[in-house]
Amino acid sequence: MAVNNAMTADFLRSAYGGESMAHMRYLIWGDAAAGSNFPNIGRLFKAVAYAEWAHAKNHFNVLKEQVGDSTVTAGAVFGNTDIVQNLQGAIDGELHEVNQMYPVYLETARFQQEKDAEKSFHFALEAEKIHAKLFQDAQNAAKGGQDIGSETIYICPVCGYTEIGDNVEKCPVCGADKKIFKSY
Ligand SMILES: [Fe+2]
Ligand SMILES: [Fe+2]
Repeated sequence: MAVNNAMTADFLRSAYGGESMAHMRYLIWGDAAAGSNFPNIGRLFKAVAYAEWAHAKNHFNVLKEQVGDSTVTAGAVFGNTDIVQNLQGAIDGELHEVNQMYPVYLETARFQQEKDAEKSFHFALEAEKIHAKLFQDAQNAAKGGQDIGSETIYICPVCGYTEIGDNVEKCPVCGADKKIFKSY
């Protein structure tokens, strides 16, 4: 894997930074949810944190021959108040990625014929669409004082594809066998 153009490399670094912070934020919010009587929403946060790790790892590995330090500017969401507000932060972060960040990064990678970056951005974009919906569903439940259900949450470690319950045999985004999915 490699990247040749500076703008795509900058977008990979920024996306790596954004995914890294999303990973950490979801672990923190997951603990907060579990500690306030929403164990299944806590589990959703932990599962999605793993998906964001997969995205960060993919972006990092496209850059693995770009040795050296860099100051990274990346989108971040702050705050840790109540579960409805934390879920709003999660929804806002995911929708920023879905509606603005990844479509632009993906088109740039295509324009610059950066195949590895294109794949990495495509994987992330597809997963973030699902995350936005899952967090919206969770927020709807939490607003009524309800937790989400207890079905297993699966994450594809290759692309971060996320699903609740047993619906697929293979990852619909990257084709990986479900046997390698991580379950929460
Ligand atoms: Fe996400
Ligand atoms: Fe996948």
